[in-house]
Parts: sequence; C-alpha cells; structure tokens
Amino acid sequence: MATPSLGDMSPADAESVYFNEYPPPKALPKHEALARAFIDRHVEANRRVVLVTSGGTTVPLEAQTVRFIDNFSAGTRGATSAEYFLQEGYAVIFLHRQYSLLPYSRHYSHSTNCFLDFMDEAPASDSTQSDHGPIVVRDEYQHQMRDVLRKYRYAKQNNLLLLLPFTTVSEYMFELRSLAKLMRPLGPNALFYLAAAVSDFFIPRSRMAEHKIQSSELPAHLDKDSAVEPDDIYTGENEEQPSQRKKLVINLDPVPKFLHRLVDGWAPDGSMVVSFKLETDPSLLVYKARTALQRYSHHLVIGNLLSTRKWEVVFITPDPPHERWLRVPKARRSKSISGVEDQVGLAEAKKKSDGSAPTPEKTEEKAQAATRQEGSSDGIEIETLIIPELVKLHSTMIEKKTHKPTS
Ligand code: PMT
Repeated sequence: MATPSLGDMSPADAESVYFNEYPPPKALPKHEALARAFIDRHVEANRRVVLVTSGGTTVPLEAQTVRFIDNFSAGTRGATSAEYFLQEGYAVIFLHRQYSLLPYSRHYSHSTNCFLDFMDEAPASDSTQSDHGPIVVRDEYQHQMRDVLRKYRYAKQNNLLLLLPFTTVSEYMFELRSLAKLMRPLGPNALFYLAAAVSDFFIPRSRMAEHKIQSSELPAHLDKDSAVEPDDIYTGENEEQPSQRKKLVINLDPVPKFLHRLVDGWAPDGSMVVSFKLETDPSLLVYKARTALQRYSHHLVIGNLLSTRKWEVVFITPDPPHERWLRVPKARRSKSISGVEDQVGLAEAKKKSDGSAPTPEKTEEKAQAATRQEGSSDGIEIETLIIPELVKLHSTMIEKKTHKPTS
C-alpha cells in the first residue's frame, strides 16, 4: 500500500511524521534555554513579546549538504519590523535565516550599505608621533549612526532582543514549534509575525542522497548511494540534440503548512498570529491572502507583491474593514532595485474591477504623521505604517481577552 503523503494527513499526524523524520537542529537546546530565560524575564515584566520570523529557508539536496535550493528573501521586512516593534515597547525574538539582515546592523551591512564606507581614519594626534589615526564615523553619518547605535544599545542592555538563527526549512520548523510552546506563559501578550519566506517544497529525508550528488556516472563498485535513482539523472537522450552532460531531475514534496498547528496547538491561548502572503500576480494577491485567513482561522494576513512590497501592503482581517491598504505616498518612497513602482495600486485596482467595494484610503494621512514624527524629508519605510497599525489590533485583542483597558 502506498504511504500517504503529508498533505493527505491530519495536521497532527503530519506533525508527528515530519518531526520524527528529522533530527532536531544541534543548536535547539541552546536556543530553547536562551528563549526560556528571555520569555520568563518578560512575563515577569508583563511585557509584550513578538516572535518575528525573517529571511528564506534552504532546502538541502543532500544530507551532507553541498547544494541546496534557496529563495530571494534578504530579511529586510523582518529586520526592519523588529526595530519598529522594539520602538513600540515589545521584546523581540528574532528567528532569522543565518547571515540575513539583522535589526540595526542592517543599516551598515551587505554590499549596498558596506560599513567601511561610513568610516574614516582621522589624522593622528601630533603627540603620539604615530601614523595611526583613530577610526571615526564620517561627519555626514554621525547623526544617523548615533541614533541607530543608541537604539541598538538600549535593546541590548535591556535584554529586549534575542537573535536566533536557522538555515534549513526543517530547522525553521523545529525552532518555530519550540518557541511557540515556550511562549505559552505570555498568553495574549504573545504576537507571532511570520515574515519568513518558508520553502513550499522539500526533499523528505528518506529520499535524500547522503553524499554529494554526482554529475557523472560512477563505476558500479563505487556507486553505493542510490538515493537518486539512475532514471532521475538522465543524459537527455530524448532531446533532438542529446547533450553530453547529465541533467538532474529532482522530485520535491510539499512542505506541510504548520500554520494550523501553530494556531490550534503550539501558540499560547489568546495570542495573536499574523502571517504574510507573497504573490507576483496582482490579480491573485487579495484572493490568496483571504483564502489563507479562512483556511487557518488566525487574525491577520498581510499581503504583499514582490515588485511593490517596499511601498504597499494589504491587511486582510476577519473583522471589518476586511481589506485595508497601507501605502507609502509617492513622494516618500525610497528607491528599490528590485521594485517596480508602476505596479503600486495594481493589486487593489484588479480587485475593484471584480466588482467589490473600494476600501477607505487613509494611508496618505498616516504617512504624513509618520513623517512629522521622524522629522525628516527622506523616504520612509512601509514598516513605519505596518507596525503601529498592528500594535493597535494587538491591543484591541488583548483588551478583549483580558477585559481590561490597555494603556
Ligand atoms: O525579506 P524581504 O526581501 O524583505 O521579503 C519579505 C517577504 C516578501 C518574504 C515577506 O514580506 C513575506 O511575504 N513573507 C511570506 C512569504 C510567503 O508567501 O509565505 P507563504 O505563502 O509560503 O506562507 C504563508 C505564511 O506562513 C508566511 O507567513 C510564512 O512565514 C508562514 N509559513 C509558511 C509555510 C510553513 N511551512 N510555515 C510557515 O510558518
């Protein structure tokens, strides 16, 4: 009898099959100990704690991994949002893809913002008779860097930010499950903000090659690892012009969607769960986000298009207004290499052409308020709009659960 796939099982059965197939990540016990202490401290202080997931997950092709499948996510949404949650008084558990962007240091990392470009060597003082001047921050960056540095140090000194890395999709799953369970004492003060781009397809451990997949045939006496069937590596013999090189055909299974288990099992009672939905086709975005909300019965889906995600998002909620667009006004949009500004508004327009009611648009006002707060005329980040709106929704939820007004 054929073994049922994970997608055909109940969420609880899929959970036990999936987690039994993989060894837990080596770092899990250490991460759990750190998270437990972090959560205890903030339960004691009656502080809200948000788990922010960020960056892409890898899908290894071999157990001793040489090659893997990855995705585009740099972790910008997660790292930026974490900063604004800290600003709103939350403690943040930042579950992120290793080497993706981090809160605060994101301003000075990777090739676009190389930290070395922000520094200079000042002239050495005459008294030292040395040619080694002190390293200083360039004048034009002093103000911005001081601001970032102060916020970073405040978060660190007050134990408000816990950084936990993952790499593969299975590591992500183990970490998410453990953290959600550890967060139970927080009750309604817990918020899940799932911005990570989690792989939708993977190779189950039982079908994974142990060693590096070979690109050329091995003599029979050396070919002992048959996790990749000979038929899956083929020479292109059906092609009109057979290539000399082999091709690799990979069979991937769908990753079980554990959002059900998170909402119905792992997460604290009364906590708020926010997921994201990414699409590239504007006509699908609202439909897919709404379907996700119905399927998992959680509290909010934030929809975004790959090409406009830095400038607009849509909040899909179970309660009215059900659909709400947040948009950075044109004059305040920062440049984005991958972004396509012409597509801003397209997903909302597509939706309206289906005959549904237009949404009230108040984002311009809010963006202006955010600008006044920041006191600068530079571009603003869409997360300055997302996080305060989300915090309001979380406060309303807490109020309802505890029947106590919140400040
Ligand atoms: O990092 P950036 O470059 O800034 O990009 C940010 C982003 C576009 C990646 C982010 O804003 C975003 O949209 N993330 C979710 C991408 C997505 O479409 O996820 P999904 O449809 O595969 O999953 C839906 C939700 O469930 C997501 O919140 C995901 O984090 C979560 N999920 C999915 C599968 C799974 N097995 N476990 C999960 O927790």
